[in-house]
Amino acid sequence: MIIVIIGAQWGDEGKGKVVDLLADRFDIVSRYQGGHNAGHSVYVGDKAFVLRLLPSGIIHADKTCVLGNGMVIDPKAFFEEVDQIAEKGVEVSPERLKVSSRAHLIMPYHRALDHTSEERLGNEKIGTTLRGIGPAYEDKAGRRGIRVADALSPDVLKLRIERNLEEANRIIVLYGNQPLRADEIYAEISPLVERLRPFVCETSHFLAEARKQSKKILLEGAQATLLDVDHGTYPYVTSSNPTAGGASVGAGIPPHHITGVLGIVRTYATRVGEGPFPTEMLDAEEDIANLIRERGNEYGSVTRRPRRCGWFDAVATRYAAELNGFDSIALTKLDVLDELEEIKVGVGYEVNGKRVDTFPAVSSDLRQIKPVYETLPGWKSDTLGITRFDDLPENAKRYVRFLSEQVGVEIGLISTGPERDQTIILEDSVMEGWFSN
Ligand code: IMP
Repeated sequence: MIIVIIGAQWGDEGKGKVVDLLADRFDIVSRYQGGHNAGHSVYVGDKAFVLRLLPSGIIHADKTCVLGNGMVIDPKAFFEEVDQIAEKGVEVSPERLKVSSRAHLIMPYHRALDHTSEERLGNEKIGTTLRGIGPAYEDKAGRRGIRVADALSPDVLKLRIERNLEEANRIIVLYGNQPLRADEIYAEISPLVERLRPFVCETSHFLAEARKQSKKILLEGAQATLLDVDHGTYPYVTSSNPTAGGASVGAGIPPHHITGVLGIVRTYATRVGEGPFPTEMLDAEEDIANLIRERGNEYGSVTRRPRRCGWFDAVATRYAAELNGFDSIALTKLDVLDELEEIKVGVGYEVNGKRVDTFPAVSSDLRQIKPVYETLPGWKSDTLGITRFDDLPENAKRYVRFLSEQVGVEIGLISTGPERDQTIILEDSVMEGWFSN
């Protein structure tokens, strides 16, 4: 069984907890795109883990985790995370953590270029995580990137750093920043690459063999559908493909070997960074946005940036369901809405008085959109920790059913709090099948 799990909105849907829950049922958890721009918070007992680069499965001692070929890996960030987890008592050995030899490395000049590019864009900036993700993918597409396999050979690493830095420094200097030195970068990166060596693996072959042995594999998307470089709100996107098709390429798994796709959907929407956000709560709804931000802890788990908050956007989520082919949805953070009198759901879009039924490609169109809302009554009672659908307040059940109808996909799991056991699994759902398999 191979399941892909992807956020349906702009990220931060609470995927970390769901992957962590599902990890129990799987043997292997693999990421397939992105790098340490992600940030999952996972709580186990009194321990909080913030995972950026490593799959959430890493905190389960009996799981094997894979960083797939579609990823960009900052070796410094990799070991910071490995060491942080080891300090909390979870051993991370090469036996249970495999890094693709075909993944690309994020180098210090990528970080510098990310800063430069955002400065250059000024008002038009993307609002990236400044971790060098975009520039590393630019080098990959430009066929000058340094893959893990290349870096393992010291001469090649040295040469590529020198060659790439020559070009990078031109841009860095042009915008008034200090040039970087190739010898310093080599001195910093080369010991990290040596430490990485035992973790390096032909991961697509490893995954193919695992599948033959009937191992269960979870493919964990980072960022989310609307940040996909092809399908998201371009150019306000990340530089990789979180959508389900990206899982096949980024893990090296044939598409027809994928068994199912699970969408992670939150009961409301958020977005970090710039870019259009049709159902954003603007000034008049600032109090509600603040309430949600506080109750939902809607601050970047890595960057601590406050997230922009908005109502559930059914048009965008339908689009995500169509693109990814969701078989089931995990609906997260129901309890965050407990105190609201009324809850709005964006069920359609209007541009210049005309109804739009599909998700527009052009950012400026998306900015002009007036969402069409339906308002549902809130439930005004505590749902934190409820574990049975029947025990939810009537209006909460109604809200959940409404979202499912709007998106056209079953809701198989509802999260009612950050802890593992604060979860409802819906009977007879596709999701329940994955859990019981
Ligand atoms: P980058 O991935 O750092 O290049 O940033 C590009 C866009 O993706 C920015 O709007 C970021 O805020 C957003 N982004 C990147 N990673 C995440 C994530 O894990 N959650 C939410 N947004 C993200």
